[in-house]
Amino acid sequence: MGKRLWTEVERYFDGLLLPADPVMDEVLKASSSAGLSPINVTPSQGRLLWILARVQSSRRILEIGTLGGYSAIWLARALPAGGRLITLEADPKAAKVARANVKLAGLAHVVEVRLGAALDTLPKLEAGGERPFDLTFIDADKPNNPEYFEWALKLSRPGGLIVVDNVVREGEVVDRASRDPSVLGVRRLAELLHEEGRVSATTIQTVGSKGYDGFTIALVAGDGT
Ligand code: SAH
Ligand code: DHB
Ligand code: MG
Repeated sequence: MGKRLWTEVERYFDGLLLPADPVMDEVLKASSSAGLSPINVTPSQGRLLWILARVQSSRRILEIGTLGGYSAIWLARALPAGGRLITLEADPKAAKVARANVKLAGLAHVVEVRLGAALDTLPKLEAGGERPFDLTFIDADKPNNPEYFEWALKLSRPGGLIVVDNVVREGEVVDRASRDPSVLGVRRLAELLHEEGRVSATTIQTVGSKGYDGFTIALVAGDGT
């Protein structure tokens, strides 16, 4: 058992549950042609993000870490008319590819790609009155995960959802000796969640074509809870 089988199972379910998606095929092709690394969420994970955005009746979504816009497009497709997604990206090349992909997907009027290091652009978001968000997807540089989570919490509506990608890292997260800044970022986030009374969170481990990893999903307390 291993990645080959996980990938085969992923293909089996994707083949039956996910409709053919020529636009997304184009988006991934454009990202790869531009030389972006293929670290976007998988189609089944994208579908999960779409479902979560729908369940949440999201009208405003924040993403930290755009890459070529693949997850942003999944999320933006869940929005109703008038909905909006803001996605933060530090790499000018990725931002450019993402803007083109968003346009290709017919979502240029919904998605705004903001260029800059997220710890610089998040305070500007707040200053610009861009809140609250119904859902935030955190998927940028992992060492800053705790800071991104604090921002997501600050910008979230009561009852908002915060999803954090790549928190298991092939199981490295439980290696107490690890000095990998990404692992340390994930561990600091878990410790923060342990202390944080305003969220109910869980981590779901995942296997598939991207290996062994996982998501943390955190529900921000609502008005009466
Ligand atoms: N969410 C995307 C994948 C994002 S990959 C998808 O699933 O389709 C992580 C992205 O975070 C990369 O594009 C990287 O350039 C970006 N990133 C890294 N450090 C960042 C920072 N400090 N601020 C904003 N984006 C950053
Ligand atoms: C990496 C980043 C991601 O967001 C991801 O989903 C997979 C890998 C990385 O930086 O290697
Ligand atoms: Mg990721």
